[in-house]
Amino acid sequence: MRESKIKPAGNATLSYGGKGYDFPVYAGSQGPNVVDIRKLYDQADIFTYDPGFTSTASTESGITFIDGDKGVLEYRGYSIADLAEHSSFLETCYLLLYGDLPQKAQMEKFTHSITRHTMVHEQLAQFFRGFRRDAHPMAVMCGVVGALSAFYHDSTDINDPMQREIASHRLIAKMPTLAAMAFKYSMGQPFVYPRNELGYTENFLRMTFSVPAEEYKVNPVLAKALDTIFILHADHEQNASTSTVRLAGSSGANPFACIAAGIACLWGPAHGGANEAALKMLMEIGTVDKVPEYVKKVKDKSSGLRLMGFGHRVYKNYDPRAKAMQVQAHAVLDELGLHNDPLLKVAIELERIALQDEYFIEKKLYPNIDFYSGITLKALGFPTSMFTALFALARTVGWIAQWKEMLEDPHQKIGRPRQIYTGPVARSYVPMSNR
Ligand code: CMC
Repeated sequence: MRESKIKPAGNATLSYGGKGYDFPVYAGSQGPNVVDIRKLYDQADIFTYDPGFTSTASTESGITFIDGDKGVLEYRGYSIADLAEHSSFLETCYLLLYGDLPQKAQMEKFTHSITRHTMVHEQLAQFFRGFRRDAHPMAVMCGVVGALSAFYHDSTDINDPMQREIASHRLIAKMPTLAAMAFKYSMGQPFVYPRNELGYTENFLRMTFSVPAEEYKVNPVLAKALDTIFILHADHEQNASTSTVRLAGSSGANPFACIAAGIACLWGPAHGGANEAALKMLMEIGTVDKVPEYVKKVKDKSSGLRLMGFGHRVYKNYDPRAKAMQVQAHAVLDELGLHNDPLLKVAIELERIALQDEYFIEKKLYPNIDFYSGITLKALGFPTSMFTALFALARTVGWIAQWKEMLEDPHQKIGRPRQIYTGPVARSYVPMSNR
């Protein structure tokens, strides 16, 4: 069990119905303090109302910190810029799971374990064959990741720390294999088995893009870019999909089922689907001269259009991941000789215009990570339908680290929000003939 690090920081008083109620206030290591309202309903017979959880801390966590106003993102206290520049995705996985950067021997042991768990049960291949060839990779991922619980019974007992550990390693190790299989299946190409002499991201690139008919050489610039994309997407505090994983896990569901729930949530265009939507938008705009007209349409609320890849629930400043993403976008386009890519030109012009426009300035709408990741992934050779699957691959470590943290939290309870009911009240049943 994990010890709570919450510190007392005074009291907050609520006056309601002519009475005063005191609630403890707590401080974490950084970020806003919280009012502990767990006894509110008991004491004052009232609920709080916070749709979208904009002012609600659902948990104590020591994994990821975001300061949206300052544009700060840290994993276990390390800035995302530092990790994107100096770390590898697998080392970042270790950091997120275990709390500290690994010593050499720890890293070797972890790498060995992840590498040795990359193969999936051979019968899973048949499971894939049940899908239509044109199925969206996220539909396939929801299904096959959930199905892992039917194949790995020996790591579904959530009360056994050793089984939790094995399930975590299995999920991190098998996600690239499953994502590559989803891609291969949609292309009508044979599945490619992992190779243990390759690194995590190199292996994924090979399983995705190699064919048995010829040798495949991993391009180190492209591998570094994809590895960085994975680092940037590895965790993001209590976002929608992570909260989904925690909520699913709070009932005691097994880890494979919980991660499948996270994948389902990530699929939506307001979350993981945004890079696909951002790229589609850039293609729809098409040329630089069309940018002002498009921005005008976005500002007209009746159009129902949003600038995809702009804005964030938490960042009200430049998304710190977008900066590292922009560096990798340029590295990939340079390496592939695509710096004159028309989509990149549209993206740069769109960013320039939007950053000067009163509408976006006033609403604090800045480019988010998805603005540049779509262009980069497209240049790497991924179809747009694979973008969210790649996000899911990278976010799996964050989901699993948060799931483990939740299970080790002595205050953990099943998640069960309440509501303000506005529906009909106490009606008598009317037989159909009298309605
Ligand atoms: N384009 C134009 N206007 C926007 C945009 C946008 N991308 N985003 C927000 N607004 C406006 C919105 O119309 C509203 O205006 P008003 O106050 O006049 O009604 C105001 O800004 C606040 O919007 P909101 O929907 O209340 O803000 P939110 O915090 O609920 O939404 C968001 C956050 C990410 C869903 C939203 O900004 C959005 O839809 N962005 C486009 C999709 C996108 O890029 N999503 C990826 C998020 S980053 C990936 C991740 O971390 O998961």
